[in-house]
Amino acid sequence: MNRQEIDKLVKQMNVDTATGEVNPRIQQVVVRLLGDLFQAIEDLDLSSTEVWKGLEYFADAGKANELGLLAAGLGLEHYLDLRADEADAKAGITGGTPRTIEGPLYVAGAPESVGFARMDDGSESDHVDTLFIEGKVTDTDGNIIPNAKVEVWHANSLGNYSFFDKSQSDFNLRRTILSDENGQYVAQTTMPVGYGCPPEGTTQFVLNLLGRHGNRPSHVHYFVSAPGYRKLTTQFNIEGDKYLWDDFAFATRDGLVATAVDVADEAEIARRGVDKAFKHITFNVELVKDKTAAPTSEVDRRRASA
Ligand SMILES: [Fe+2]
Repeated sequence: MNRQEIDKLVKQMNVDTATGEVNPRIQQVVVRLLGDLFQAIEDLDLSSTEVWKGLEYFADAGKANELGLLAAGLGLEHYLDLRADEADAKAGITGGTPRTIEGPLYVAGAPESVGFARMDDGSESDHVDTLFIEGKVTDTDGNIIPNAKVEVWHANSLGNYSFFDKSQSDFNLRRTILSDENGQYVAQTTMPVGYGCPPEGTTQFVLNLLGRHGNRPSHVHYFVSAPGYRKLTTQFNIEGDKYLWDDFAFATRDGLVATAVDVADEAEIARRGVDKAFKHITFNVELVKDKTAAPTSEVDRRRASA
């Protein structure tokens, strides 16, 4: 069949058959995607078995709760970031800390504090480096933003996230820090480690067939929001990781690479109230002022909450 015949058939089956109220947007999307799918089946001469295996794959990925991971791994989530950048540029919105993917592992409801938070529960402190992350939240002119909500989450030294990894305590390595009167936030935590997709999971299954690895560099996730500013979804990826620029989820971007500096100075160690040398990362955040008629920077997606 050619595209004209396909489109006619799709319309006959899914548009002309409507007897109830139609959601025009959903109809438009379904008709378009079906037409594209039928065309791909035609072009690639997909067998019935291949089509059913494809549907079974999505069923399995959904059951394993890996569709979010798949969206990151196939670059769909990064593509949405690039589109959002384009839409911002068209609306005259420039500057600010770059956005990058949220990933599937945010959990709402983390403990909140002002200025400072200790993020780790201490269970790894004997064998993992302590990390201090600190930065300022400002607008694009450098004016400080006090009381900005800085939500931070990252993996432990095994590359696992609390909540999804039930062996960790509740909200381990997840905090909400409100910037203080100087726009400053400080997090005391442990060095995260990059992680890979579950090796036996549905995402890695398809990556294997594409000859791709499923690894991410060590990184820390952020949501930063403040009244009157556009919400920022971002992360920094840590310099020195072998996957820094070979991230399976394509989250590393210019402006989002952080360097972990070793601090062994005794006075600094004492000032921080720790008992050993630590690593330090500066990550400042620049928020962009909200503008009427700007494309929204909020993404409505299903998220875990605890
Ligand atoms: Fe992550």
